[in-house]
Amino acid sequence: MKEAKRYTITAALPYANGPLHLGHIAGCYLPADIYVRYLKGKGEDVAFICGSDEHGAAITLRAKKENTTPQHIVDTNHEIIKNAFHDFGIQFDIYHRTSSKLHHETASQFFKDLNDKGSFIQETSEQFYDQEHEQFLADRYVTGTCPKCSSEGAYGDQCEKCGSSLNATDLINPKSTLSGKTPVLKETSHWYLPMNKHEEWLKEWIETGKLNGVQQHDPNEWRKQVIGQCKSWIDNGLQPRSITRDLDWGVQVPVEGGEGKVLYVWFDAPIGYISATKQWAADNNKNWEDYWKNDKTELIHFIGKDNIVFHGIIFPIILKEQGDYILPTNVPANEFLNLEGDKISTSRNWAVWLHEYLEDFSGRQDELRYVLTSIAPETKDSEFTWKDYQARVNNELVAILGNFINRSVVLTHKYYNGIVPEPGQLNEVDQTALTIIETTKSKIDKSLSEFKFRDAQVQAMDIARLGNKYLADLEPWKLIKTDEERVKTIMNIALQISNALSFVFDPFLPKTCNKLRSILNNNSLELKAGHQINAAELLFQKIEDEAIDAQIEKLKATTVKQSNPKAKPMKDEITFDDFTKIDIRTATILTAEKHPDADKLLKLTVDTGIDVRTVVSGIAEHYNPEDIIGKQVSILMNLAPRKIRGIESKGMILMAENNEGELSFVSPEKAMANGGEIR
Ligand code: 2FM
Ligand code: ZN
Repeated sequence: MKEAKRYTITAALPYANGPLHLGHIAGCYLPADIYVRYLKGKGEDVAFICGSDEHGAAITLRAKKENTTPQHIVDTNHEIIKNAFHDFGIQFDIYHRTSSKLHHETASQFFKDLNDKGSFIQETSEQFYDQEHEQFLADRYVTGTCPKCSSEGAYGDQCEKCGSSLNATDLINPKSTLSGKTPVLKETSHWYLPMNKHEEWLKEWIETGKLNGVQQHDPNEWRKQVIGQCKSWIDNGLQPRSITRDLDWGVQVPVEGGEGKVLYVWFDAPIGYISATKQWAADNNKNWEDYWKNDKTELIHFIGKDNIVFHGIIFPIILKEQGDYILPTNVPANEFLNLEGDKISTSRNWAVWLHEYLEDFSGRQDELRYVLTSIAPETKDSEFTWKDYQARVNNELVAILGNFINRSVVLTHKYYNGIVPEPGQLNEVDQTALTIIETTKSKIDKSLSEFKFRDAQVQAMDIARLGNKYLADLEPWKLIKTDEERVKTIMNIALQISNALSFVFDPFLPKTCNKLRSILNNNSLELKAGHQINAAELLFQKIEDEAIDAQIEKLKATTVKQSNPKAKPMKDEITFDDFTKIDIRTATILTAEKHPDADKLLKLTVDTGIDVRTVVSGIAEHYNPEDIIGKQVSILMNLAPRKIRGIESKGMILMAENNEGELSFVSPEKAMANGGEIR
C-alpha cells in the first residue's frame, strides 16, 4: 500500500427527488462517516465530499406529475436531505449540489476536454419520440410491458418488478408518459463512451490493482462483491454507453450539435465529487488538485451495491481518459438493508425515513447509528426490525456501555468527590484488563482500516463488557468497607477504561462520546490521578415498548401493502371518457353447449335485455354447460364481433380469475333486469 498523505472520501450523491431512508444510511453514509471520523481522529488530512444529485429524468418526471418545476423539487429535497445528514451527525466537509453553476462549468469542461481528445464516439440511432409533445423520450419517459417478466408499467430503462435493465425499444406496447400515446421511432444523434476500448487496462486494474504495470492498490483489500460485479461486466464484454440524453434538465451538451441535449445524469454526477471538492477548497484555502491529481492521495468511494459499475468501471474510465486524475484505491460498496421482512420500497412507502426518525426519536441519533452499524450489510443483505433496534439499544447501549460509565462515575463521586484516585500496586487482574484493552484498541484500528465497521463496533463494545465484568468481579462497593486502598486502584482502572471508551466509540457514537468526554472533563488519551470529573449523566435511556409499537403501526399504516402479491399491477390510467366507451350489462345465459371444435370453449346464447345473441366463451374447463343455464352474468356488449373457431361471437362474458387461473362469473349480488348497465 502506498503511503497516504491525503484522503478524498466520497459518499454517493443522493438523488434529490425524495428524502433519505435507513437503507441509504446503513449502506453508504454511516460507514463513510465512521471511516472519516476514524481517519481524522488519527490526524489524517481528509476531504469528505458529498452533495445532491439533482439531474436526471426521474426528477423531471416527478416535477411534471406534481405540476411544478425540477428546480423546485431539488431545492425542497436538497434542504431536507442536508438537514437530516446534519442532525444525524454525518459530518461532510462539504455538501454541494449538481445544479450549482460551478458543477455545470466543471462537468461541461470535462465533457469538452474528453470530446476534444477524441474519447467519445457520436452515433445516430432510432429512439422513441412523442409526436404530440414534439420531443424525444428519455428511457424513463417510456413505459410498457416488460419483455422479461410480462409485468406492466416497466420503465424504458428498467423493470422495477423483476429488476432487469432494459432499453426503451425492448418494451412491449410502449407508451409515452407525456401523452399516453404510442411513441414513434425517430433518428437522433448521441455521444457514447466506447467502454469496449478500455477493457484491457480495466481488467488488469480490477484484478491486480496495477495500472500500466504500477501497483495502485491491493485488490485483496477490495470487497469480493465489488470485484465480482466489475469482473462480470468486463467478462461479458463492455459496450459503448451513451452519455447524453434528449432532455432539457441537466448540464447542456457544450459542443456543436448538442442543442436540446444534456449530459446523462450518470456522466455528470460523479464529476459532482470534483466540483464539490473545488468549492470546498475555495472556501477553505486548499488546493483541490491535491485531492484529485496527486498520487499520494487515496480516493475512496462509499456507495451502495447498485452503484458499483459506475464507480468501478465507468467513472474510472472517465478519470483515466482525462489524464491527470487518480483512480480510486477502494470502493467499499455495501449490500442492501431490508426492513421488517420486506425489501425497502419508496413507491410502496415501506421505509423508515431518516428525517422522521430524527423527529420521533429526537436526540437519539447515536442509538440509530449503533444499530445500523451492528447490522451493516457489509457482505450480504441484512435486516432492520424495530424490535431488534429496541433490544440492541436496551441490552447493549443501556445495559452495557451506559451502565458501566454510570457506575464508574457515580462511585468516583461517592468515594472520592469526583477526583480520579491515585492507583496502588496493580495486580494480575488489573494488568490483564489493561492489556486486553490495548490489544482490543489495535484490533479496532485494524478493523476500521479494513472497512469492517461491524467488527470494529463489536470490539469497542467488548471493552465496555470487560469494564462491567471488572467491576462486577471485584465489587468495589463491598471492598470499600474492608480495603479502601484497593478500591482506589479499581476505580482508577474503571475510569481509564471509561476514558478509552470515549475514544474508541467516537467514530460510531460521536454525540455520546462528546457527552462522555464532558462528564470525564477530559479530552486527552491520558486520564491523570487527581483530575476532577463532572457529575454523572445518563448516556442512554431505555426504549419503551410503546415507542416501538407506534413505529410498527406507523409503518403498516402508511404502507399500501399488497394483500395479494401475485396480483398484476394496475394498467395505465384511463380517463372517465375512456371508461364510458365501454358498455357492460347484466345478462342471462339461455343455452350452453360445448363448442364442436374446441375443448376449452362453450357456445352460449344470452339474453342481454336488448337482444338475444351468441357468445363464445373460454370457460369449458371451469363450468359444465348444464350448470350455468339461467345464470345471471356480466357481458361486455360493444366489443366488435369476432369469429372464434368458426362461430361468430358478439360480446364477451366477464370472468374473474384467481392466482391459480380458476375462473368465476361476475354476477350481480341480487337478481337484476337483463340489460342493466354496469358502471
Ligand atoms: O444511486 C444514486 O442515488 C445516485 N444518485 C448516486 C450517484 S453517485 C455519484 F456518482 F454521484
Ligand atoms: Zn420485468
